[in-house]
Amino acid sequence: MKRIAVLTSGGDAPGMNAAVRAVVRKGIYEGMEVYGINYGFAGLVAGDIRKLSISDVGDMIQRGGTFLYSARYPEFATEEGQLKGIEQLKKFGIEGLVVIGGDGSYHGAMALTKHGYPAVGLPGTIDNDIPGTDFCIGFDTAINTVLESIDRIRDTATSHVRTFIIEVMGRDAGDIALWAGIAGGAEQIIIPEKEFDMAEVAKTIQKGRDRGKKHSLIVVAEGVMGGNEFAEKLAEHGDYHARVTVLGHVQRGGSPSARDRVLASNFGAHAVDLLKVGRGGLCVGIRDNKIVENDIVETLEKGKHKADLSLYQLNKEISY
Ligand code: F6P
Repeated sequence: MKRIAVLTSGGDAPGMNAAVRAVVRKGIYEGMEVYGINYGFAGLVAGDIRKLSISDVGDMIQRGGTFLYSARYPEFATEEGQLKGIEQLKKFGIEGLVVIGGDGSYHGAMALTKHGYPAVGLPGTIDNDIPGTDFCIGFDTAINTVLESIDRIRDTATSHVRTFIIEVMGRDAGDIALWAGIAGGAEQIIIPEKEFDMAEVAKTIQKGRDRGKKHSLIVVAEGVMGGNEFAEKLAEHGDYHARVTVLGHVQRGGSPSARDRVLASNFGAHAVDLLKVGRGGLCVGIRDNKIVENDIVETLEKGKHKADLSLYQLNKEISY
């Protein structure tokens, strides 16, 4: 292929800019022309497409968010939207597309694949919930952001002998809660993948109190329930002076970590390698520390993201 394009779609994730930069720079290095599409699939359908130069992606590797902007665009689930998108790509003479995003974005890339248009998906979401990869772009930065907050909250929790409930993002996945919870020494981690019993949660807090523990941190993944609802239900089992912090969108922004920048750079360059030899219909990932590609249709239709539940058990064994 000689002319490819790249877009970012769905929720922004730190490292998306580093991935776009890698696609552009590697593409140009390989003698290709690289186009950027603004506002994800919405911009694709609208033809908001421009050629990117090496310097367009200068000073970008450290920036959070996405300079190509993003959008949630459910209209791309319709055949009409998809065919319009392909028409725009053909109008610009673009032979292949790199889609950076989460689950919805992958479905967009899969739809293009099913229409015979070569697309490659790169996993970019703080939720880390994409099948076919151990890690997604943005996850590492997000868990470090959450961790910084947990550390701060711990100071206050200890000073006031309080229980803190910290609600984190992740949609239906518990990865953010698990990783940040372990790293922050949270006494309890509540995730959608594991049932929990509120009476047991209360008992664990009480046990800590009884042995003189000054704080109790409970990290709750949003996929279970909201932090406020959790606090109300906990209060039915006793007064634990609970306070709730909903971290919200602070988890999505910020300068990407070194790990996310390297991951994004590897993913972006790998996508170009695939398109260069005419390979589309794939999604890139990292498995056991190796960059891999998988069939995107098979990955989405048969694969299912699995949180690392050994971390859940580990937390039970070392933080209580
Ligand atoms: O997918 C990323 C994510 O931040 C989820 O963790 C969260 O549930 C959702 O997006 C929030 O979406 P929005 O920013 O559209 O409200």
